Amino acid sequence: MSVKKVLRMGAPVLLRAAEPVVKFNTRALSGLVNNLLDTMAKQEGAGLAAPQIGVSLQVVVFGLVANPRYPDEESIPMTVLINPRIEPLSDQMEDGWEGCLSVPGLRGLVSRYTHIRYSGFDQFGGKIDREVRDFHARVVQHECDHLDGMLYPQRMTNMRAFGFEEELEKAAEVQAVE
Ligand code: NI
Repeated sequence: MSVKKVLRMGAPVLLRAAEPVVKFNTRALSGLVNNLLDTMAKQEGAGLAAPQIGVSLQVVVFGLVANPRYPDEESIPMTVLINPRIEPLSDQMEDGWEGCLSVPGLRGLVSRYTHIRYSGFDQFGGKIDREVRDFHARVVQHECDHLDGMLYPQRMTNMRAFGFEEELEKAAEVQAVE
């Protein structure tokens, strides 16, 4: 295991646009991907972006298989997505609670497209091209935002729907996504 420290909001790298990957199927890229997967698993997150461990490259990992933190959510295949592009397939957006390993303990309500197409590459250079909806679409939009230097609080329009997970859960208002 190579579990890395997850940087928190305030670290400058989280505000930077990440660079595209130019060489695939290298030891360095495999090492980065393994570090991301190990760190995500350790933190029980649904996704993690390279800038969150201090690497300003366009690499994200995400996936959800029977995660006890999200008992009601559909599963998402474990995915390594590099140099991603997202295209909304409808104008429809939906509010949902999000969290982020770089904003620990907090949750906020964020509006996301409900139906998107995303494309990019895996770590070997294989093409990825998927059309997804709802929770899967939300997770991808959240992770890819990290590559544009964007954290979910920057997407929020109603700062009253922002708070500490423990308090929100007490108020029984939240079913969170991180
Ligand atoms: Ni995040």
